[in-house]
Amino acid sequence: MDAIILTHIIGWGLGIVLFFAALVLYNEKKSKQATIPHMILRLDYLVILYTGFVLLWRYFDASGSSFTVQAIIKGIAGLIVVVCMEMILVKMKKEKSAKAWWIIFFIALVLTLLLGFGILPMGFLPA
Ligand code: HEM
Repeated sequence: MDAIILTHIIGWGLGIVLFFAALVLYNEKKSKQATIPHMILRLDYLVILYTGFVLLWRYFDASGSSFTVQAIIKGIAGLIVVVCMEMILVKMKKEKSAKAWWIIFFIALVLTLLLGFGILPMGFLPA
């Protein structure tokens, strides 16, 4: 396993933790405290996006890979997960309903994990 995939996994693992920390705090109307995990999460988005795009780029470089299409779908689904996390937190902050974003979030997350762990070849889970 190389540094990029490892950083990608640490990036989204940390992202989910920070997302829930901010979520709980916004839910308790502790908007000020929630800003801290929310801001760190926004930096973490950059790590997720950068490593994600580097991983995706490898599939374009290795022309003829039988997984290019799956990797593109994985990338789009991952992107949607990031957008949903940010939208849910902003809605929570404004005390508006985030229901639609939650639905999209779960669908995209399941798709992302299925493709990332289940179908695409790299990673730490046994194939
Ligand atoms: C929160 C969002 C994201 C999550 C939860 C996520 C999750 C994952 C997981 C679970 C893996 C597989 C790791 C493994 O098998 O050990 C992976 C790999 C990958 N991810 Fe993401 N990811 C996210 C965002 C992104 C984004 C934004 C992109 C692209 C723009 C992207 C592109 C990729 C690519 C190309 C791979 C390589 C798969 C392989 O070669 O096996 N990911 N990601």
